[in-house]
Amino acid sequence: MSLQDLLTSSLDTNHPDALAFMQGVQGNILKGHDRLHTAQIFVTFNANAQAARAWISGDLSRRLTSAKKQDEQIKEYRAKRDKGHPFVAFFLSYQGYVRLGIADSVTPADVYFRSGMKSVPAGEQNVVADPPPRRWEPNFRGRIDAMVLVGDDDRDRLDVTVDVLTKELASTSEHTFVERGDVQHFDFGDGRGNIEIEHFGHQDGISQPRMIKKDIDDEIAERGSANWNPGAPLSLGFVGEPNRPDEFGSYVVFRKLGQNVKAFRTARDALAGALGVSADDAAALAVGRHRNGKPVMPATAPQPGKDANDFNFKSDLSAALCPYQSHVRKTNPRGDTVVFLDQTEESERSLRILRRGIPFGERPDLAPDSMLPPPESGVGLLFMCYQSKLIQFVIQQEGADSNDFVKTGVGPDATLGNNTAGAAQQWPINGNPAAKSFLMSNFVTMLGGEYFFAPSVSFLASL
Ligand code: HEM
Repeated sequence: MSLQDLLTSSLDTNHPDALAFMQGVQGNILKGHDRLHTAQIFVTFNANAQAARAWISGDLSRRLTSAKKQDEQIKEYRAKRDKGHPFVAFFLSYQGYVRLGIADSVTPADVYFRSGMKSVPAGEQNVVADPPPRRWEPNFRGRIDAMVLVGDDDRDRLDVTVDVLTKELASTSEHTFVERGDVQHFDFGDGRGNIEIEHFGHQDGISQPRMIKKDIDDEIAERGSANWNPGAPLSLGFVGEPNRPDEFGSYVVFRKLGQNVKAFRTARDALAGALGVSADDAAALAVGRHRNGKPVMPATAPQPGKDANDFNFKSDLSAALCPYQSHVRKTNPRGDTVVFLDQTEESERSLRILRRGIPFGERPDLAPDSMLPPPESGVGLLFMCYQSKLIQFVIQQEGADSNDFVKTGVGPDATLGNNTAGAAQQWPINGNPAAKSFLMSNFVTMLGGEYFFAPSVSFLASL
């Protein structure tokens, strides 16, 4: 049996080949690295490709956190509860493969990857309509070859690591810059303690495809599975590296997304007025979940302290409860494409993504005695996701921006969508679908990003 056979199902960590698989792939894909702070170091290599390759196969490779190492670190952390270890991952863009002189035969082939985020591949049916790169932040306008992701619970130690890496990169790069992310917490006062939220104020990171069998079993035990199966085969996130048997990587999307919190709140308040509901209930309709994570759709009651995720939209085909334009319905239609677009459940499920984003930016306005208004800029999400083919991300972003997903004329995603010709969406009142027409969108701005590949640990060591 080859490791390739593992891809067709979720990972049973007791399988004789599981360890070899986890040793070979980078961490953060099978499950999130879960550190409180991150630094993303973006690199444009200089012409000395040999030196860059030596750094990658040497110093960088020694620091990498494989899935196996990540697992060991989690076990050690549970036992010791100390400050743990830094997490390190490394990604190359298509331009990076070219710059390093890596053979085309072993370079990942996805069309979106090869065209890069700054352009749209010719002839593809599904595309993301981003603002032109000249409107991105200056750092992102030029060529980006690689990204190093460092995660750490200890901010000072993270600063030291960034400093060391930046110095190491000085001789092999033309340009480097760093983005910093910090988990944001909020206590909803419901006994769950500090919960991870995004800048609009909602709990984030609840619904994820689970690729490890034990994680699937745990989620089903905690949240139920009558309406939604969180499981996924390894092939959702991993793909074989071309012409490298038994080596696996994952495509990575990185996008710095600015959030205009003030505009979101203004629209939310106006929507609340139009529907005669509270501001929090209006925001819940825009997201598909309340601020504390509770789905707008009825869901199986989870175990105490756990988050509900066992719901789908089959009982709400007219969108009387959860609008089509709500963020979670746009990005994970949970059956809608089977009903409205004649897709199979299997194909819909194969378009899910593994989200690994982290917020950026300070929020002095959230201090208890602050009189500051909510920010219009300077805060947002360092959005990251892994997938085995980039269409998984592309189709979600395209659907979020589109007026016509999942049905013609429903308008853009009310949280994420960006569309200068957005159609007013229909909103329910008291279980009556399409009771009010109101446009809510354009709060998230793409500030820059790139498509990357997370190669296997052994591929990087071979450079
Ligand atoms: C600043 C931008 C964004 C914000 C504020 C945001 C916020 C949220 C929130 C609050 C949730 C609900 C919590 C959860 O289910 O985990 C969520 C879920 C989700 N988001 Fe986003 N998100 C953003 C960007 C994106 C992007 C760019 C994508 C993909 C193109 C995306 C895809 C998803 C998916 C797939 C889910 C889970 C849906 C489900 O399985 O029910 N999000 N997001």
